[in-house]
Amino acid sequence: MAEEFPESTFVGVDLATFFNAVDPDDVPINCSFQQASILHLPFEDETFDFVIQRFLGMAYSPSDWETALKELIRVLKPGGWIELAEGNFIMQRPPACYQRFYNSLAAVCLSRGVDISLLHAVPMRLAETGVIEDITIDYLSIPTGWHGRIGDICLASFGAAMRALRPAIAPTMGLDNEGYEAMCQEVLNGFREKKTWFKAPYGFGMKRVEG
Ligand SMILES: C[S@@+](CC[C@H](N)C(=O)[O-])C[C@H]1O[C@@H](n2cnc3c(N)ncnc32)[C@H](O)[C@@H]1O
Repeated sequence: MAEEFPESTFVGVDLATFFNAVDPDDVPINCSFQQASILHLPFEDETFDFVIQRFLGMAYSPSDWETALKELIRVLKPGGWIELAEGNFIMQRPPACYQRFYNSLAAVCLSRGVDISLLHAVPMRLAETGVIEDITIDYLSIPTGWHGRIGDICLASFGAAMRALRPAIAPTMGLDNEGYEAMCQEVLNGFREKKTWFKAPYGFGMKRVEG
């Protein structure tokens, strides 16, 4: 995006420090990163023309959501645009072995106050704010492990997410590291075989201009 819009300035934010590992030569000059929480954004009010938040649905408690939306809208200029994009663990045409992983993930998330069966509804939160207008809600269909390069990337990304979740999920499934890896492999191979896909919901809208 930074390369596509060279006249604009882009700022990426994450709690984690992985930006530090990125080779500066790989980053366009109009792009920078800051380690910060979306719940306390280190920016003045009305700084940005466009704000996008993607794949944070599993990170927030219900009260975090209120705070995050307030913060994202606070740093957005009136007349600027906001987008919320999410992943969704509800797979279409999944292999049978996926259900066990999904059930464990859903239970762990629920024990932390996050209902992952509701992730599809995240973009609709824009309407709840009362200050976002001209809202468009839709979803992308994401092939996982088939349909060429995009499917390969999505499968690799899904596999990385499953493996990152291992410390939280493996004990609840009664699996050791080896067993968990075998389960991941079975699920990922199953996605390829069954031509599994999922819906990635997104929504965008404009911050109301008062007066
Ligand atoms: C699934 S990843 C998505 C990363 C990135 N947004 C993307 O779309 O590829 C979730 C990220 O949210 C970050 N995160 C969790 N809570 C956060 C918060 N309160 N503020 C900023 N980042 C947060 C985690 O560090 C993790 O990198």
